[in-house]
Amino acid sequence: MAVLTENQPASVRVPEIEKGVGCDFESYLLVPDTSLDARIAAARDLLGERLVILGHHYQRDEVVKFAHFQGDSLKLSQQAAQAKADFIVFCGVHFMAESADILRQPHQQVILPDLNAGCSLADMADITQVEDCWEQLEAVGGLNVIPVTYMNSSAAIKALVGRHDGAICTSSNAAGIFRWAFARGERILFLPDEHLGRNTAYRMGIPLEQMVVWDPYKELGGTTLDKLRGARVILWKGYCSVHQRFLPEHVERVRQQHPGIRVLVHPECRWEVVERADDIGSTEGIRKKVEASPAGSQWAIGTEIHLVNRLAKQNPDKLVISLDPNVCVCTTMFRITPQHLCWALENLVAGQVVNLIRVDEETRRWARVALERMLAIQ
Ligand code: 13P
Ligand code: SF4
Repeated sequence: MAVLTENQPASVRVPEIEKGVGCDFESYLLVPDTSLDARIAAARDLLGERLVILGHHYQRDEVVKFAHFQGDSLKLSQQAAQAKADFIVFCGVHFMAESADILRQPHQQVILPDLNAGCSLADMADITQVEDCWEQLEAVGGLNVIPVTYMNSSAAIKALVGRHDGAICTSSNAAGIFRWAFARGERILFLPDEHLGRNTAYRMGIPLEQMVVWDPYKELGGTTLDKLRGARVILWKGYCSVHQRFLPEHVERVRQQHPGIRVLVHPECRWEVVERADDIGSTEGIRKKVEASPAGSQWAIGTEIHLVNRLAKQNPDKLVISLDPNVCVCTTMFRITPQHLCWALENLVAGQVVNLIRVDEETRRWARVALERMLAIQ
């Protein structure tokens, strides 16, 4: 393992690394962001092809600029599946790093620079609640349900879906996965984002009356046998706290303030917002649409603020603003700081893997079945 050498400028050297031992995160806390740039770049260079850094679009600029690949959760899972590097450092949230670990090759290790970078939406479906829901649906009998889970869910839920002939989807391939599921069963149980499930099904022509919400805290999900039998989609009661903040009045207000502006929102937004918008897109879809639009275009974007601000900066010939004037940040994505990235990389240089993400083998096996199904359906 290469360690930083005498030839490295002092600004990129840390004594522990020169001794070839790992270093504690605490020693990074007081280092200002800017002075870490050279150290992160040096560690990245030293690790060379042994390292790949994946960065989600919601990451802050100071972190995402070091990513070898930037993308939405689908694109990053494809990159993780193809990666050759020994170390996959995932600048994103826990379920993304877990998915990379599920798809990795035996020699690879996946690292999440801050283990506290979770996802409040993924946390809204607990495996025991989902198992209970599945048992109740089976007990009803004759429902012929195919389980589909959003990428934003735990590995245990992905494994349950894999075991029961279901698949995973992301916000950019949900419609394709729904079509695949409807070719195999009469109903979909969609976990854990109520809004993505409703928006996807509605856009495929399924009326709202044929969707029911499953509330895990209520008897039979708070619904009835008749409603379940009449439903094509059973929506888990979960939501993203960032996207649920966008409201129909924001769409109306921005249209009044900027006549002619186009409203483009992520499908995790409420149905009432999506219906008033001009278009929907995953984070990658949003990026592509804004970039492909002609100079002078005006966009009000309903998604996390780091991506909106980056798009505004990268497209100075267009107006790109947030749909909600009150900043909408994903606080868990924000947990990955340059300090965390530097700490993770310098430890790798010192031969020490910190914040390793490991999914147990049995869970991994079935979750991989569901993830590979998704990747094959593209
Ligand atoms: P994407 O599928 O667009 O990457 O979205 C992931 C996410 O967490 C959005 O909140
Ligand atoms: Fe999870 Fe929402 Fe953050 Fe996406 S924006 S990672 S769904 S909390």
